[in-house]
Amino acid sequence: MVTLRSVIVGAGSYLPERTLTNAELATMVDTTDDWIVQRTGIRERHIAADGELTSDLGIKAARAALADAGLAPHDIDLIVCATSTPDNTFPATAVSIQSGLGITAGFAFDLQAVCSGFVYGLGTVDGLLRTGLAKRALLIGAETFSRILDWTDRTTCVLFGDGAGAVVIEAQEQPGAMTDRGILTTHLRSDGRHKMKLYVDGGPSSTQTVGHLRMEGKEVFKHAVSMITDVIKDAFRATGYTARDLDWFVPHQANRRIIDGSVIKLGLDPAKVIITVDKHGNTSAASIPLALCAGIADGRIKKGDLVMFEAMGGGFTWGASLVRM
Ligand code: UT7
Repeated sequence: MVTLRSVIVGAGSYLPERTLTNAELATMVDTTDDWIVQRTGIRERHIAADGELTSDLGIKAARAALADAGLAPHDIDLIVCATSTPDNTFPATAVSIQSGLGITAGFAFDLQAVCSGFVYGLGTVDGLLRTGLAKRALLIGAETFSRILDWTDRTTCVLFGDGAGAVVIEAQEQPGAMTDRGILTTHLRSDGRHKMKLYVDGGPSSTQTVGHLRMEGKEVFKHAVSMITDVIKDAFRATGYTARDLDWFVPHQANRRIIDGSVIKLGLDPAKVIITVDKHGNTSAASIPLALCAGIADGRIKKGDLVMFEAMGGGFTWGASLVRM
């Protein structure tokens, strides 16, 4: 039997030039390098330059992903940009990326699922490709969270950073076995009862302002590990794979303690976990493709590897996707 599979055929990323260290942050708010490292694992993060927009980051990541895939912009007929920090309320940042890449065919739209945006994007793009609505997609996670942080609030401003990561996903006809390349399964969840635990206190319809990120960190932390491990178990159940079968675990990079807690609960091998939170902070929808690119760039993640992606964030939203690279 032949079936359509959505295969990741290229990946690329971009980080703004400027890094902001914990030591610098300690001169801005009442915090210390020790506190940030012990509670989160973060040592530094990248911050977009004045005038550098989310779409600028996304375009650079997309170009790198296209080069990695050996493809040209005109080979793409779908762009999905996962972001909570769009250039404007509308048009979608995805169409700015589309025009920046010189693409005039196909369609482009933004996807808003906060830190879960990239995993939601994998599920969405997979569905669109397998139903034939598009043939080859760019899925981009791009964020400038530095623009929505309250830089006087030490409980949030030390946690986030800017960046972008992108993958090219192509519909391929395949036998469709678990050993064939592609997105094997995706499991997405949300629960709006938690919407005020991590939110932005502004918006076009409510305040007509952009607003700042607000978070009950402890509450998010409390739910994170169980939500993450639940959807990962769903992915294992759907495919018959177990923790031992994974080549790599590429989690959303919010907090080292959340990642370590999930790894222990699932019985994963800590040597198979890609960690970038120390260097990038939490880049929301960009964190997973940035971590994926780091793992590919240093030769750890290779074609044919079985990789589990997971994320949890504002909403709450959460999800996991199991991919044969
Ligand atoms: O992308 C998904 C969304 N985000 C997350 O996943 C984040 C989830 N939450 C977390 O990662 C953690 O809850 C935080 C890192 C945000 C906080 O860690 P915590 O261990 O839960 O600390 P806490 O909020 O209980 O605060 C402990 C103490 C408090 O002081 P008191 O009340 O004990 O005197 C805070 O005021 O640490 C204080 N504190 C800080 N101290 C130094 C809070 N932020 C800072 C800071 N520097 N930056």
